[in-house]
Amino acid sequence: MTTTEQAPAPQFPLHRGCPFAPPERAVEFRDEGTPRRVQIWNGDQPWLITRHDQIREVLSAPDRFGADVTMPGFPNSSDAQPHVEGDLFFRKDGAEHMPTRRILNPDFTAKRSQTLRPRIVELTHELIDHLETLERPVDLIEHFALAVPTVVICEVLGVPPADSPRVHEASKKTVQLSVTKEEKLAAMQDMHDVLEVHAQRKRSRPDSSLLSRLVNVHVDEKHDFDFEYAIRLGMLVIGAGHETTANMIGLGILALLREPAQRRILLSDPDKYAGTCVEEMMRYWSMVQTEPRRVCLQDTEIGGTLIRAGEGIICNLPTANRDPAVFDNPETLDITRVQRQHIGFGFGVHQCLGQNLSRVEMQVAWPILFQRLPELRLAVDESELHFHNDALTYGLAELPVTW
Ligand code: HEM
Repeated sequence: MTTTEQAPAPQFPLHRGCPFAPPERAVEFRDEGTPRRVQIWNGDQPWLITRHDQIREVLSAPDRFGADVTMPGFPNSSDAQPHVEGDLFFRKDGAEHMPTRRILNPDFTAKRSQTLRPRIVELTHELIDHLETLERPVDLIEHFALAVPTVVICEVLGVPPADSPRVHEASKKTVQLSVTKEEKLAAMQDMHDVLEVHAQRKRSRPDSSLLSRLVNVHVDEKHDFDFEYAIRLGMLVIGAGHETTANMIGLGILALLREPAQRRILLSDPDKYAGTCVEEMMRYWSMVQTEPRRVCLQDTEIGGTLIRAGEGIICNLPTANRDPAVFDNPETLDITRVQRQHIGFGFGVHQCLGQNLSRVEMQVAWPILFQRLPELRLAVDESELHFHNDALTYGLAELPVTW
């Protein structure tokens, strides 16, 4: 068992030499097999876990590895994080996590998400109709990848489409690492104001939306939490729900543009391949690149290394999802690959609440886009594309295309 580190800890997030592969240093760490220390923004040196089996071990043991961002030693992504998210259920464990998670679960089951499929199909066609009216080149991130999940998550909550651009601007700022604490707080306030107005309206005129159920059933009838917390849950669902899926939609389009053979397979039978395509894209891109994070609650050995209570942990999903111990030819994108072992939506009790909804959005968006625009191609050289290397979630700043 080792308790000390020999080499200096590299700065995290680690640099990606190739935009289509995980950071090289993280791959080296994974292949060496043991957790390694990295240095984060505040000088702390949490452990980076890079192997698939070790990450599953961490994420399946909330009694040993806690998600509470206010705990000493938790490797926060910014100094704002404990203040902004510290009281929310998803940054808690046990009795402070599960009851609220159970309240939200019914709106995001596989069955419930499937009921939204016709609306997502309709919305996708509407967005492509709109794309066709725009002057080319068109940025598919702004006009397609962001628009699908923004409108869908606002509809789930019951926020009218007219407010979705404002909601999007605000939540984008909350996840960008380069944004100051003051700017983040101002953005959160703006999103809060939008939701508060709609939540108040739904108290006098209840409807079937999630926001209406939160304020009417869980605040007024069952007293599970107060009105303010209900608004914050709405903000969380918006924040977690649209930027993530948008990034994945954009990255998936890029992958299908780069690999025409994979695109042809998808279009040859979308009903057959859309499902495996989504799972493979989740594996290949592992878009959540700097999370999940945990703090060790009791001394535990992982991969022969002693992690002490109070030390931080960062799980590196991109290396885990290309772990050759789990996936054959892990660097190859193969949309016919039958696998559900990827941990792109996390693992264990905190695994993604919105994964079923995201899956449907991607299953619908990619085939319809390429069926409707068969001549779709990049309008710039691939080397000119700018990836969000500094963000919590990996993605493209813009995707200029023409057809
Ligand atoms: C492709 C899209 C998405 C990806 C890759 C993704 C990824 C993840 C990951 C990796 C986690 C685990 C975090 C951890 O263990 O600390 C997570 C949790 C979560 N996700 Fe997602 N997510 C996506 C879409 C969504 C959507 C659409 C929603 C909307 C409801 C959502 C809401 C959440 C919430 C609330 C949690 C915390 C759950 C808990 O702690 O119980 N996500 N997501």
